[in-house]
Amino acid sequence: MRAVQPFFLNVSQLAHFFVATVLQPGEAAIDATVGNGYDTVFLARQVGDTGRVFGFEVQLEALEKARKRLRMAGLEARVTLFGESHAHMATALATVWHGRISVVMFNLGYLPGGHDRSCITRPETTLPALNAALQLLRPGGLITVVAYPGHPGGAEEAESVRAWAATLDATHYAASTYRCCNCRKPPPELTLVWKRAR
Ligand SMILES: C[S@@+](CC[C@H](N)C(=O)[O-])C[C@H]1O[C@@H](n2cnc3c(N)ncnc32)[C@H](O)[C@@H]1O
Repeated sequence: MRAVQPFFLNVSQLAHFFVATVLQPGEAAIDATVGNGYDTVFLARQVGDTGRVFGFEVQLEALEKARKRLRMAGLEARVTLFGESHAHMATALATVWHGRISVVMFNLGYLPGGHDRSCITRPETTLPALNAALQLLRPGGLITVVAYPGHPGGAEEAESVRAWAATLDATHYAASTYRCCNCRKPPPELTLVWKRAR
């Protein structure tokens, strides 16, 4: 098998690359923006049949597509989907999962191929959800955020995520943002927050 060349990955693939270094079979993960379900399927494969994935999504259309994708992949049984905002993730998850989540993935913006492009993620709910994710993570766990500055409201949201990550105490978290620096259009960007292992 050919070695992975991280230099040629787009930011979504790069997020998967980093998640794969952290998330182990039997562990638990959250997909904070289920959308069409590609990331949910990836997480469900990664945790194996003894692991657990929780997904959050506000659009019924997206939940139906994701459910179908999970069913086709035979992964439905290891995934719980919540039809509610990721801002509620801490209350939606039973307390037994708090501090046991290895990865939380955010893929911001609108539903690709969806009917309602006005339904986008917004800083008012994204930032509370990121704070909730910090509480749910186990030591050594990872948050990935792919943000898209190219759509209306996207640049402000990407900026708010970067600003939020910059406030995190470096003794407890390592935070970084990756983006193309010689692209013509505003490039999507990946912010990583790693909760330092104690
Ligand atoms: C770029 S898409 C996600 C793509 C998805 N990860 C995939 O693999 O197909 C962003 C999704 O976030 C959803 N969304 C918007 N606001 C949300 C919220 N407050 N909580 C959860 N999901 C939200 C949108 O409905 C949309 O489906």
